[in-house]
Amino acid sequence: MTSRRTFLHIGGVSGWALLISPLSTAFAQSQDHTSHAGHVSQPEVAKAVFPSPVTRAADAFTNPLFVPGNSGLLGVMAVQAPLRLTVGGTKQPVVPGKSPASLLVYGSEQGGVQRANPTLLTKKGQVVEAMLANGLTEPTIIHWHGLLVDGQTDGGPQLSVPQGGEYKYRFQVRNRAGMYWYHPHPHASAARQAYSGLAGLFFVDDDEEQAFRDKLGLKLGDNDLPLVIQDKRVDADGQLVYRPTDEEWKGGYLGNEVLVNLTVAPLLKATPRWYRLRMLNGSTARIFNLVFFHGERSLPFAVVGTDSGLLRAAQTTKRAFLSPGERLDVLLNLADIPAGQFVMLKSLAFDPMHQEGGHAGHGDSGATINWPDGAEIPLLKIAVDGKVVSTPVPLPEVLSRFDDIQVSRAKARPWKLGWNGKDWLLNGKTFQMSEVVATVSRNDVEIWELQNESQGMPHPMHIHGFVFQVLSRQASPKQQAELAVDRFGRAASDLGWKDTVLVWPGESVRLAIDFKHPHAGAQTFMFHCHNLEHEDKGMMVNFRVA
Ligand code: C2O
Ligand code: CU
Ligand code: CU
Repeated sequence: MTSRRTFLHIGGVSGWALLISPLSTAFAQSQDHTSHAGHVSQPEVAKAVFPSPVTRAADAFTNPLFVPGNSGLLGVMAVQAPLRLTVGGTKQPVVPGKSPASLLVYGSEQGGVQRANPTLLTKKGQVVEAMLANGLTEPTIIHWHGLLVDGQTDGGPQLSVPQGGEYKYRFQVRNRAGMYWYHPHPHASAARQAYSGLAGLFFVDDDEEQAFRDKLGLKLGDNDLPLVIQDKRVDADGQLVYRPTDEEWKGGYLGNEVLVNLTVAPLLKATPRWYRLRMLNGSTARIFNLVFFHGERSLPFAVVGTDSGLLRAAQTTKRAFLSPGERLDVLLNLADIPAGQFVMLKSLAFDPMHQEGGHAGHGDSGATINWPDGAEIPLLKIAVDGKVVSTPVPLPEVLSRFDDIQVSRAKARPWKLGWNGKDWLLNGKTFQMSEVVATVSRNDVEIWELQNESQGMPHPMHIHGFVFQVLSRQASPKQQAELAVDRFGRAASDLGWKDTVLVWPGESVRLAIDFKHPHAGAQTFMFHCHNLEHEDKGMMVNFRVA
């Protein structure tokens, strides 16, 4: 049976057959060859020559940045009625001048409007009902990254449903306002499925957040823009290729293009006022070192929020790391930029700190990687034009009010991130489906001490089911230590509430986690590295909160 048939046979798919178009022959063939849905590489093409390295000048940034509208790809929708998300294939032009890329997406149809990977808008307190319909020829499951849900709703690998299977979710949105996301979490193939396109944004709104937007005149889709930053390996035909070598499973899989909202070399035409950029690093492995340049000068920007919503107060900085899974909410005052000039969002060169011995990241699967790990990469050109209509109002002094987690009675739990010559480990363990490595009491606050050995590489560590506060960073490498805004070694991007934190080789990062939860009975969640190659290879454990 061809995948084309598989996809088109999924119940309820009729209306979105237009959007989720019949898969190309090439894609279907590749499915037949590998019998892996979502394996987007075509064996014959994977050996082909990849575009050779280019230094992309600002002039080359001419492709309008894709901004989600009300329908189609990333189409924005308020979640009101029960939502049905059907996993299927679509074709989307990615590289201009090349054939459209075959992607996997979560398709939805509601009130006659078709969307792929819908951007979901919710309010704190509301109940969300969703159904996943698996149109792949392999298991999958949706995980709601960052959401405070119970273990059954969380969508870990144990809950994967087979081809044709369905999974029902019903949960109350308990999070603070913020930009969360959803993506696949099946056992050992989360990276490939996410890479193939499966990922969507999940916004939570609340009164504080709304007041903040109103005050600054921010409008989602206008001057409040989600930016999903992802690297992809694109072949000469414009198709995504995901074929990690052993070295790449170890070091992480890197792309030869970096896309923002699936746009190559994107251009955002802006006017002189506040712009809010809500960035998600949706790459499987690549870390970004974000800087805004105006000419030769790096531009100060305000960090107003992190993974789980607004900070207490804005933090002005000039640089921030963003590792896979993390979000960063920044404000940029473009009224300071003379009309006709532009700002360039770049990832500045940094030391990727591959200290695990051997080479990492750069496989020889026929690919020339345009952007080695840690290379300087231009990401987005923001061209400013028009007159300043009114002087932008200053940022409010208080963005959000919340209490810190009380850690005076907290129990410390060390987690050693290590490498045994074969696998990445958490306290000496690799993932076993049914093994619970840590049991925590729901009455406890714990301090998790993430200690990364120096003979390692950076790991973006992510916890399910809870958000945390970063207490401190110790023994940070210079490129991180330079960003410290307090005596605890924390950077602006460590403040507020988070669900994912980057830990460099040799570094120790302490997190405060309050395990109080309202769910009946004991709950099991994952704790893992969000370098998705690492996650798929078992740098993950189950923990239970009883
Ligand atoms: Cu974003 Cu366990 O994942
Ligand atoms: Cu998650
Ligand atoms: Cu890792």
